[in-house]
Amino acid sequence: MIITIDGPAGAGKSTAAKLLAKKINFQFLDTGAMYRAVAFAALKTGAPTFDEPFLQKIIDGITINLLEGRVLLNGQDVSMQIRAKETTEIAGVIATSKVVRTKLVELQRIAAFEKNMVCEGRDQGTTVFPDAFCKFFLTARPEMRAQRRFLELQEKGINTTLQEILDAIITRDQRDENREISPLTPAHDAMILDTSDMNMNKVIEVMHEEIQRRGIK
Ligand code: C5P
Repeated sequence: MIITIDGPAGAGKSTAAKLLAKKINFQFLDTGAMYRAVAFAALKTGAPTFDEPFLQKIIDGITINLLEGRVLLNGQDVSMQIRAKETTEIAGVIATSKVVRTKLVELQRIAAFEKNMVCEGRDQGTTVFPDAFCKFFLTARPEMRAQRRFLELQEKGINTTLQEILDAIITRDQRDENREISPLTPAHDAMILDTSDMNMNKVIEVMHEEIQRRGIK
């Protein structure tokens, strides 16, 4: 059984997906980490531009494993590196690629096959799992999302400014919403939650109530 959580950067999807999965004893799939891992692999080659044949080679030459919250690229733990600024930016760029999306969608469906899983990303309810049991779309005002990201990064000791984060979030939103393949948009049957004025406990409570209403305890 699949539950999808989609939405823009910084809407709280990852935290919500992890907490919800724990609460209902489901596994959890962070699909953004897969795009980040491909971006990291592409950047590591030092190539100046990434066209489709180049990205096909990258995709064919790597293995990505998501293990208990860790991200393994060719067996090496890159969980921290894939959160770096440059990788974050390039993840949004390579996410417009047809070859990358085709491969990652396939891997996501394999990862979730016959499992109980909360799958989090941009296209989980629209493209990857259109028949999911329950779909959520989390969003929040850009200023709110930037503020949350800023605090998160500060906690991790990463030096940045609120304005820099807001600009990056707006750029990423625009790229995700306007790309040709699987643009970021709520599935027609998704429950849309604006989390701007909600704390995470409330978000989980609302999502849990919705899936209980549909029969999962
Ligand atoms: O969610 P996260 O910020 O880790 O995702 C990194 C990037 O990967 C996003 O900016 C988005 O462009 C892309 N992505 C995507 N489809 C997904 C998950 C992430 O296009 N299902």
